[in-house]
Amino acid sequence: MSERLEDIAVAMVADGKGILAADESSGTIKKRFDAIKVESTADSRRDYREMLFRSDEAMSKYISGVILYDETLRQKAVDGTPLADLIKAAGSIPGIKVDAGAKDLTNFPGESITEGLDGLRERLAEYYGLGARFAKWRGVIAIAEGVPTWGAVKQNAQALARYAALCQEAGIVPIVEPEVLMDGAPADHSIDRCAEVTQWVLKTVFDELYDARVSLEGMILKPNMIIDGKNARKAGVEEVAEKTVRVLKATVPSAVPGIAFLSGGQSDEEATAHLSAMNANYDLPWKLTFSYGRALQAAALQAWSGKTENVAAGQRAFTHRARMNSLAAIGTWKTDLEKAA
Ligand code: 13P
Repeated sequence: MSERLEDIAVAMVADGKGILAADESSGTIKKRFDAIKVESTADSRRDYREMLFRSDEAMSKYISGVILYDETLRQKAVDGTPLADLIKAAGSIPGIKVDAGAKDLTNFPGESITEGLDGLRERLAEYYGLGARFAKWRGVIAIAEGVPTWGAVKQNAQALARYAALCQEAGIVPIVEPEVLMDGAPADHSIDRCAEVTQWVLKTVFDELYDARVSLEGMILKPNMIIDGKNARKAGVEEVAEKTVRVLKATVPSAVPGIAFLSGGQSDEEATAHLSAMNANYDLPWKLTFSYGRALQAAALQAWSGKTENVAAGQRAFTHRARMNSLAAIGTWKTDLEKAA
């Protein structure tokens, strides 16, 4: 495969394909495993991810790339094959989460800043050697009274831009992820407040990317959709699609090859329906696809529940979700397909 940033970015958003976010940190995967009563150990985390990466149909037909956590990029399958090689063998691209998580932002109560820039140049060189060709950095923006502030938006956008420039220097495509949260407290904000904040955040992020001389052709944007807060009323699919497309068109230059949404706490089917409606009903200058964590994995985790005899069932559940989202990425998903399965 070509190693040009532009070509990698285009491959990440190829027609009918999207990204599997399997980069849960050790703390987050423990929460997911607690919910299915599985102990989180290096081996159980390996077994779970090996199950996903060996889902041949899903990986070869629907998943363009997988975002890994540091531990996973270094792990080997039970038979000794590096997990990154399983991904490559399926025709998919290994990627790596490089941020060190969102921490409290000094002087800005209730807001966070994502850490991980120190030493990033050296870490990226190592990750490249381990096979990663794209990376992810997530900035987190909360909505509450008086929040977000300009200070927090600006500082998170600057960190994203510095990260993106370092990635491109290393031959790695940056996924730029400024997530405006749908949950957190109080999470009762309206869809229009989400639109206003997201537009402000994306405008600021693209200003900073420009100032940092980041090549837009060699990056992927990973935004939230425009939706109501988790504890507010729930807008219909058409409204979410219309408002999301409107904000993206107002802020994302058409030089960006693709936009891959996070699921952020939407249900599996909501995340799929929203994506499909955007692709079905709008003329768009970029590819719109998925980079889901929870919305691709929840059913598979449940079906697997840590048992070897459930591996095939876990793979079926993952493959179904991947196929539904693949259809959504080309705008042809229908509710009936869920029922048929
Ligand atoms: P969710 O789809 O579960 O929000 O995860 C995507 C992700 O990578 C968040 O950083």
